[in-house]
This record gives sequence, structure tokens and C-alpha cells, in this order.
Amino acid sequence: MTLPFDLARARRETRGCEGVTHFNNAGAALPPAPVADALYGYLRQEELEGGYEVMERRHGELEHFYAAAATLLGCDPAEIAFADSATRAWNAAFYALDLRPGDRILAGSAEYGSSLAALLHRQHQLGVEIVWLPDDARGQTDVAALASLIDARTKLIFLTQVPSGNGLVNPAAAVGRVAKDAGIPYLLDACQALGQLPVNVDEIGCDLLCGTGRKYLRAPRGTGLLYVRRSLLETLTPHELNHHAAFLVGTHRYRLRPDARRFECWERSYAGQLALGVAIDYALAWGLDAIAGRIVELAAELRRQLSALDGVTVADRGAQQCGIVTFHAAKTSAETLQRQLAERGINLSTVPASANPVFTQRHPQPPLLRASLHYYNSREEIGRFIDELRKLLG
Ligand SMILES: Cc1ncc(COP(=O)(O)O)c(C=O)c1O
Repeated sequence: MTLPFDLARARRETRGCEGVTHFNNAGAALPPAPVADALYGYLRQEELEGGYEVMERRHGELEHFYAAAATLLGCDPAEIAFADSATRAWNAAFYALDLRPGDRILAGSAEYGSSLAALLHRQHQLGVEIVWLPDDARGQTDVAALASLIDARTKLIFLTQVPSGNGLVNPAAAVGRVAKDAGIPYLLDACQALGQLPVNVDEIGCDLLCGTGRKYLRAPRGTGLLYVRRSLLETLTPHELNHHAAFLVGTHRYRLRPDARRFECWERSYAGQLALGVAIDYALAWGLDAIAGRIVELAAELRRQLSALDGVTVADRGAQQCGIVTFHAAKTSAETLQRQLAERGINLSTVPASANPVFTQRHPQPPLLRASLHYYNSREEIGRFIDELRKLLG
């Protein structure tokens, strides 16, 4: 028997709920009070004591981030690196791969724009070939097609588990089984998945994973993480080094750190790192299964109510769907509606048609509105949002 979700507590611990209806969790979620307080408290101590001194005094708590992230992902703390964004984490992994002209990368069709730019950069720089994987009839990555496309030149499989511009969840674990059978490194963008659904690196079978703090994990902006499977670590050469990523052992010699922190920089927001650890603990305390269950239920309710509105089309695809709900209205642009709703205290974002040219070419669609729900959102908020939207659409 599952316990009822303690919504009252979730909202009490989310101070932002008092002032706004926040359906932009795929942009940046409202941090819960314990996370925000950890951040402010640490910054206050830096102000009063000095940044290096606080870092030393609170060393153990700062280290806890690695243990918390390892618990979240089901890996070893030595396989975790702190990053200031998912993009930085993704780039650190991607640019460390030993790719040669003619190598093939198999990538999903709904990748994030900054990854797309980096893929194209490597294509132009190195002459690697990028193959965009087909989608199946439900709109998610076609796993059978992936298996048939693998050949001797394939050096990387790349997938975004939850695309930022559609409500679908890609079959990350099925892709992992194909990657493992073929012995090909598998890089997973779990940016929208962390904190929204359970993500276990062994169950999924990915070798590299990037995530961000500010979205479903509810951590501050400027935080993220990278996971590197231990067995892959020695095959990767960090694209850039510093005196934290490598030890200086002579006038002409250095030695790389033995763990994933070889992808880090020494300087960072330590307040952010501390707060990311607190945010992960907070998510784990709610339980990722409970969180996912609550979010899926709310999003299904929102899709149902949106579909019943005249002239509104829900654009979400996929056999499995998540808290991201995308839609468009026949007579009013996404941009206009977003602005009008913001004026009424309801935060949404838009998905421009230019966000991902690969996806848009395959699935032509107008610019979309994106309502991304978290467990602290309520049915009352959904009701108010639908009422406002109905009024705006006349
Ligand atoms: C699927 C996905 N991947 C990667 C990113 C990039 O994350 P960050 O802005 O932390 O670099 C985003 C951000 O929206 C995203 O939605």
C-alpha cells in the first residue's frame, strides 16, 4: 500500500508556493526551504568568516555531496564530479572521448540544443559522423533501429532520457542493453530526469551521465553533476586540466586524479555544492518512486483537462510520459499566452520551433507552451490555470 503524498508538508516547505503558481520546474524548480536555507547560511558564513575558512571547517558536509549523488544514482562516490551545469558536465565527458575521423555517433532525435551544438562542432572539427536515431510510432527513440545501426565505426551512443521540449520519457534502459551488448560507451543526458524519476546507472547501463541541480532536484542554479563509470575513467582524457584535476609531481610531470574529480575545477560555488547535496538528500527523503508517482498523476490530470479545451492540442508523445506537458492553442501564440499567464501569477515556459532542428524537422509543430509540474504543485493550481487559460482563449 502506498502512503498518501503529504502535499501540505511539501507546500509548507516551499515558500515560493505562497506567491506563485510555478509550472516551470523543467526550467528551474522552486527550491524547498531546507535547501535555500543551507545556501543562504553558507553564504552568510563566507561573509562573516572568509570563504577558505568555512570551506575547511565544513569540509565534511561539502564532501557529503558526493555520497548523496552516489546514493541517488546507485554508484560509487569516486564516480561523481561536481559541475556548474549539465552542459559543463556533458562537455567534460564528450570532449574527453577519443574520437577519430570517420567514427560514428548514434544520437537521439530530441537532444538538448547545447549538446547538438557540441556534436556538430566535433563533426566539423574531427570529421565524425552523427546519425540521428529514428523514433518509433510513439515518438520515442526506436531501440530496434538503434541495434540495427550499430557497426564497427560506432564509438558512442548518446540519449536524452527526458527531452526538455516534450513530455516523453525515452527507453533509456533498453538503449543501455543494446549499448552493453555492443560494448559501446553510452552517454545519458539525465538533466530533466534527476529528481523527477528513479535513475540508477546500473539499471540503465549508462557509462556517463550528466545532470543539473536547478530543475527537478530543486537545488540552486549553477550546480550540476557528472557520473563516470569507473571502468571507463582511464580511457578518457580530460579536454582541459587544472591543479585540482591533476597532481603536479615534477617540473615536467603531472598525474591525473584517480577519480571522476579529474573533470572538476577547484574553484566553484561551495555554497551551491553544499545545497545540491541537501537537495539530493531532500529528494531521497521523499522517495523517487513516490515523487514520480505523484508527478505522473498530476501531469495526466493536466493533459486530460487541456485536451478538453476547445482549440488546444497536447503535443506530448511517448509510451511513458512525465511531468512535462506541452501544448499549443489554435488561435493564440505560445509567447502571448506565456506572457498573459505570467501576468496572472502562473509561470510556464515555451518551446520555440528552433529549439532542436532535428526534432522539429521530423515532427513539424508550432512553438509550444510547456507546463512542467512537480510534486508540490496541486490540483487547485491546475484548476486555476485551466480557468485562466479558458478565459484567455475566449
Ligand atoms: C534535456 C536537457 N539537457 C541539458 C540541459 C542543460 O542544462 P544546463 O542548463 O544545466 O547546462 C537542459 C536544460 O534545459 C535540458 O533540458
